[in-house]
Amino acid sequence: MSAVSTVTSIIRTAQRVDRFTYAIRNIVAEARKVEASGRRVRYLNIGDPNQFGFLTPPHLIEAVARAMRDGHNGYTPSPGIPEAREAVAADFTARGVDTSPDRVLITSGTSEGIELALTAIVDEGEEVLVPSPTYPLYTAVLAKIGATPVYYRTDHTNYWLPDLDHLRRVITTRTRALVVIDPNNPTGAIYPDDMRRALIGIAEQHGLVILADEVYGDLAYDGSVPPMAILNPEAAIISYSSLSKAYLAPGWRAGWMAVGRSSRLDPALAAIKKLADGRLCSPGPMQYAVTAALTGDRSHQAGFRQGLRERAELTTERLNRIPGMSCIAPKGAFYAMPKMTLPPGRTDRDYVLGLLRDTGILVVYGSGFGTDPADGFFRVVFLAPPGELGTIYDEMAAYRFA
Ligand SMILES: Cc1ncc(COP(=O)(O)O)c(C=O)c1O
Repeated sequence: MSAVSTVTSIIRTAQRVDRFTYAIRNIVAEARKVEASGRRVRYLNIGDPNQFGFLTPPHLIEAVARAMRDGHNGYTPSPGIPEAREAVAADFTARGVDTSPDRVLITSGTSEGIELALTAIVDEGEEVLVPSPTYPLYTAVLAKIGATPVYYRTDHTNYWLPDLDHLRRVITTRTRALVVIDPNNPTGAIYPDDMRRALIGIAEQHGLVILADEVYGDLAYDGSVPPMAILNPEAAIISYSSLSKAYLAPGWRAGWMAVGRSSRLDPALAAIKKLADGRLCSPGPMQYAVTAALTGDRSHQAGFRQGLRERAELTTERLNRIPGMSCIAPKGAFYAMPKMTLPPGRTDRDYVLGLLRDTGILVVYGSGFGTDPADGFFRVVFLAPPGELGTIYDEMAAYRFA
């Protein structure tokens, strides 16, 4: 019998993975090491309200359970069940943007909407304008598809509003889309209408698609922010949102996207639907909760918003008291982006890892969202109960970074 030779070399991974980073979860590996050393870690890295006692409204749970019991456990049409698409279209229409169900897709969270839109629109080597700081899935997906994220500055000395001059300067002939996250993660900023109009104006002038990330639209403390498309329904705007944040069901992976009514977007809509066919459908029973959420009782949102406002005020007040630290007050969502003055040569990552190892408090370094490592920004998720947050901020104040 002749011996069969086997290859023992390691299985190589694709280079695109080297470019793909998602700091919010990547940093958990460091937290696990700290836990292994016996220290308790307080996770302020992930924006999951369920982990902090904000619970999914019962009528949404019932809608999913009923759908399962009623046998809706098979594949659905790829763009989603008609009831859910109609509910999304009616919701947009009620908010002032006439939307046809045919231009709506039900997705596995906003995340899948982001991935579908970027994959459908942007070719390898092309550019997409992404705010700095940004929610990092945009840069991660662009890395995966071989396109280039180009940061436009948002300015912490001006309530984290976009720096329009900088934005105009970084547009090139390769630019295809402009990402607008409003209300913003990680900064908590909300853009006034004149800023939103200016962003639409710049995009229209350069033939760019706006990807309007509106996942926190109902979590502005002073009441819902209307969809960006309301300001110019003919502009090339693709909006998306989900049940994850304002409906407290992030694990369900239930979201939607609405492609603006301009016929200039028809090829993009067709391309998105073509790609969506390949992934069959988003989770079926959860699509029934989309209908229940958008047509049913939303009274949980008032209490949630109030809880967030209280935590935002506590966070801003307490962090601004720490010597060397400054924090712009968030106006929506559950994130703040404070800045710590760093000694020369040190980075935001050094600060965050030092804080984690010394105190067990896990936040995410700003450079994971696109800010300069030397600038000392980091992101705090302030969903924990106020008492707990108070203790955490005491410990942050006592921590000495050297
Ligand atoms: C700005 C932004 N967009 C999209 C997402 C992804 O949300 P989803 O759970 O709907 O995929 C998040 C999640 O934190 C986010 O903050």
